[in-house]
Amino acid sequence: MKNSKLEFLADRIIDENGNIIMMSWEDPVMKKHAEIICSNGGDILEIGFGMGYSSGHIQNQDIKSHTIIEIHPEVARRAREWAKDKPTVIIIEADWYDVIDDLKTYDGIFYDAELDPNMRKFSKYATEKLLKKDGIFSFYNTITGEMSDNRYISFRNNILKRYFIKNNNVKYETIDINPPDFPGAYISSTVNEYNVPFIVNK
Ligand SMILES: C[S@@+](CC[C@H](N)C(=O)[O-])C[C@H]1O[C@@H](n2cnc3c(N)ncnc32)[C@H](O)[C@@H]1O
Repeated sequence: MKNSKLEFLADRIIDENGNIIMMSWEDPVMKKHAEIICSNGGDILEIGFGMGYSSGHIQNQDIKSHTIIEIHPEVARRAREWAKDKPTVIIIEADWYDVIDDLKTYDGIFYDAELDPNMRKFSKYATEKLLKKDGIFSFYNTITGEMSDNRYISFRNNILKRYFIKNNNVKYETIDINPPDFPGAYISSTVNEYNVPFIVNK
């Protein structure tokens, strides 16, 4: 991901292989993730800046600090630009996996890292190392009742089911979504609900 050649369009970021990294239609999804992880306020950790939608919604909550880890140099540059007038934001340009020992503990964590080879390890770190007591962890997901023929989506869903959801007490809030009818935009444009998963650290 770090060395991907990204193209930044008004409504999406794509990589050189045509993978959609982020799209603007997902803004309401990001808002709900942000509201859930910030419901106790405090110190927030976010993995993956992307187009900055979730970051913007996190900033709109009543929080103390907002640490963003972003691996891609151009996305991180954009994040630093965005953060210039936001004193609570700390941008760390890195692979989260390389800086895990430098992090503190957080009241809310949102994980939304695309094409991350260490994805399967994040949930354990979040719940066992990074979350404060009663802290809330949420993660982007593409798990729906519909099968996807996109190999990456199937791969990610399998990791999420096996490492993020299994053996964790995951709760969900469901919101309405309206994905565009565009190849690769979502599993299917007919999926009209999104389950926002979250884990509260007891
Ligand atoms: C789907 S986007 C995030 C979208 C964001 N939540 C938003 O609202 O716009 C994924 C981001 O994660 C970053 N990323 C991927 N792997 C990462 C890693 N290992 N560590 C940190 N950032 C990573 C990508 O460069 C990309 O900017």
